Amino acid sequence: MKFLLPYFFIATCSSWVLNPSTINPRTGSAALYASKSSQKAIKRAAWIESRGGSAAAITDKPVTLKNDEGLAFVELTSPNGSSTQVYTLGACVTSYKTDGVEYLKVRPDAKMDGSKPISGGLAFCWPQFGPDSGNEGLNLQQHGFARNEDWQIESVTGDEVVMTLSPTDYSKGMWDKEFKATYTVKVTDGSLDTVFNVKNEGSEDFVHQAALHSYFDISSIKNLSIEGSFKGKEYLDKMTGETKTEDRDAITIGEETDSVYMGVNDPSVVDSGKGKKISVVDAKGWTDCVIWNPFGNEGMGYDNFVCAESVAFNPVTVPAGGEWEGSMSLKAENI
Ligand SMILES: *[C@@H]1O[C@H](CO)[C@@H](O)[C@H](O)[C@H]1NC(C)=O
Ligand SMILES: *[C@@H]1O[C@H](CO)[C@@H](O)[C@H](O)[C@H]1NC(C)=O
Repeated sequence: MKFLLPYFFIATCSSWVLNPSTINPRTGSAALYASKSSQKAIKRAAWIESRGGSAAAITDKPVTLKNDEGLAFVELTSPNGSSTQVYTLGACVTSYKTDGVEYLKVRPDAKMDGSKPISGGLAFCWPQFGPDSGNEGLNLQQHGFARNEDWQIESVTGDEVVMTLSPTDYSKGMWDKEFKATYTVKVTDGSLDTVFNVKNEGSEDFVHQAALHSYFDISSIKNLSIEGSFKGKEYLDKMTGETKTEDRDAITIGEETDSVYMGVNDPSVVDSGKGKKISVVDAKGWTDCVIWNPFGNEGMGYDNFVCAESVAFNPVTVPAGGEWEGSMSLKAENI
C-alpha cells in the first residue's frame, strides 16, 4: 500500500490542491499524507506543475514498470538476456547489463523520485549542452530542458522502445521552436543501440547542441583507462579554459577532469578491475567526446564512474523541415 498513494495522486489530481477527497479510498487514511512517499509525490507533482503540468503523461501511456518512488520506466531484454532500463523522465537509459555485468552508472546522489533530472546513465543534454553557448539563439539552462521532461512512449516491444518529445508550455517558455525529438533504444545480444532524431517542424531554421551525458560504471578510477583516437587531438580543458593537444595514447584520471575533445567519437572505457571494456560507437551525428570526472567528490561517487559523453559540441543548424540524427551504440567485451 505504501507506494499506491503517489500513483493515485498522479492519476487523479489535475490541480495539486491537498483535498481530503483525494485520499486513497482503499486505505482511507489521512495519516498517509504525512508519509514519506506521499511527500515525494507532492514534491514531484509540484515540479511537474511548474513545468507546465504534464503529470498525466506518467500514467496515460503503456508504461510497464515504476520504481519504488513512482517514476516510470521500461525494461527491455535481448534474446540471450542482455537488458536495459529507460526512464520516461528525460528518456534516460539508466542500466545496460550484458552477461550479468552492469556498464552504466547512476550516481549515488541521484534523485530517482522526479524531484530533479536523473544524474546518471545516458543522460540527455538537448537542445543546449553547456551552461550558455551564448550565440545563435541558444541561451538556455545548462544541459537544456529535454532531461526535465516526461517523454511520451510511442511504442514499446520486448527489446525496443521509441520515446518522443514535442514542445510543451514549459519548453516553449525557453525555446519557442517547433520540433519533434524521437529517441529509439534497442537492446540486442551484442549491443545497446540508440538513435536520437530531431525534426525541425517549423518554418525557420534553428540551431541546437546535443549530448548523451553517458556515465560508465567502473570498479575504481585507479583501474580506468580510456582508449580511442585521442592522441594528437586538440581539446578544451574546461578546468583551466586552455586549449591543449593530447599527447597520451589512453586517458587516465588522477584529478578533476572536464575535457572536450573535438573530432573524437570512439572512446572505449577499459576497466582492469572488472576485466571489461565498453566501446562507444558513434556512427552518426555525435562528432565529439567529453570526458568528465569530479575527482575527489565522494558525494557524487567519483571513484566508480567516468563520463565519456557523445556530443555535437558546436551548434548545428537544423533547416526548416529538416532533421538531425545521432546514432550511438555500446558494445561490451572482455579484456
Ligand atoms: C549473448 O550474445 C552476445 C553476442 O553474440 C555474446 O557476446 C554474449 O556472451 C551472449 N550472452 C549470453 C549470456 O549468452
Ligand atoms: C582494481 O583492479 C585490481 C586488479 O587489476 C583489483 O585487484 C582491484 O580490486 C580493483 N579495484 C577496485 C576498487 O575494484
